[in-house]
Amino acid sequence: MLDNVADPKFETAVRSPVAPRFSRDELRAMLLARGDAQQDLFARAREARHLAGADDVKLRGVIELTNYCQKTCDYCAIRAGNKAIHRYRMTADNIMALAEGIREAGIGTVFLQGGQDPRTDTMISAVIPRIRQELGCEVLLCLGEKPRAVYEEWAALGATSYILKFESSSPELYHQVVRTSLAKRIDCIRWIKAAGMEIGTGNIVGLPNQTIEHLIDDILLAEDLQPDFVSSSPFIPNEGTPLETINEGDVDATLNTMAIYRILFPRALVPTVSALEKLRGGGQLAGLQAGANVITINFTPKDFRDQYAIYSAKNRFIVSGGHAKQIIAEAGLTIRPTH
Ligand code: 5AD
Repeated sequence: MLDNVADPKFETAVRSPVAPRFSRDELRAMLLARGDAQQDLFARAREARHLAGADDVKLRGVIELTNYCQKTCDYCAIRAGNKAIHRYRMTADNIMALAEGIREAGIGTVFLQGGQDPRTDTMISAVIPRIRQELGCEVLLCLGEKPRAVYEEWAALGATSYILKFESSSPELYHQVVRTSLAKRIDCIRWIKAAGMEIGTGNIVGLPNQTIEHLIDDILLAEDLQPDFVSSSPFIPNEGTPLETINEGDVDATLNTMAIYRILFPRALVPTVSALEKLRGGGQLAGLQAGANVITINFTPKDFRDQYAIYSAKNRFIVSGGHAKQIIAEAGLTIRPTH
């Protein structure tokens, strides 16, 4: 399935445990569906979600704990070397106070997100067991590529799950924008799984030079990886990044990818991301209608948040609890109980 992937390390990293469910032609037609055909695709996705008993929407509370980052991803405004933002790192006490707010809001998942910042690793190791034991919450991490031993340590300390998106299945496209190797990324995804954490991954729609064939490959790679959560996000051009003048990603292609993920992984958590809302009013509601079942609510205090510019400040839509509840109700869905 992955014989179009040139990088030999990549092929050993992914061992095709499952045969693909749809042909390339079927996936192409699904990705290009618009109008009635698109509504049919979304209805199939909703049916798959319903039959899997995955209709109730899970809420996560995110704390963006550091905006230091070693990486230089061309799409991201917290990339190393961007002098336009003020860098911060939260303390364990900052994080615990915010995590308490998440639990008090009735949310069962504390989502710790940050740039790839090795200087926070020890502090993360200290807060994981505290969040588990003192607050009784799940701990979801999204902190980038780490040595295998760090993933193992965090899993042993009680981290429940980890998000590391493959971003693009094309080694060439990936290397062009992320500047490191896709093979390394895939190794990390496998280490996270082997360490016993649930794994979330996914792609970006609208990267420079990306074609529909690349998007088909993204879906096939997701199928190989068999993730527990899987996302698709539209590319957002960010000020002060090398890609600031590139067109934004196509919202319909993103929604269609989400619907395909739902059909392929009926029980998975599929988030409806804030970038959808940023690019199209009602975009996150459309995501729920395309089969999504997770929303992340932002608990980063404003002073920090303004510097957490994975989408630069004016490009971000900040998801509140009120917005999440409103779109869940509009979609005719309910919130998943925490226990
Ligand atoms: N557009 C779309 N997605 C982005 N991400 C970061 N910056 C952008 C952007 N400009 C996503 C990447 C990354 C996750 C944390 O955020 O997929 O893995």
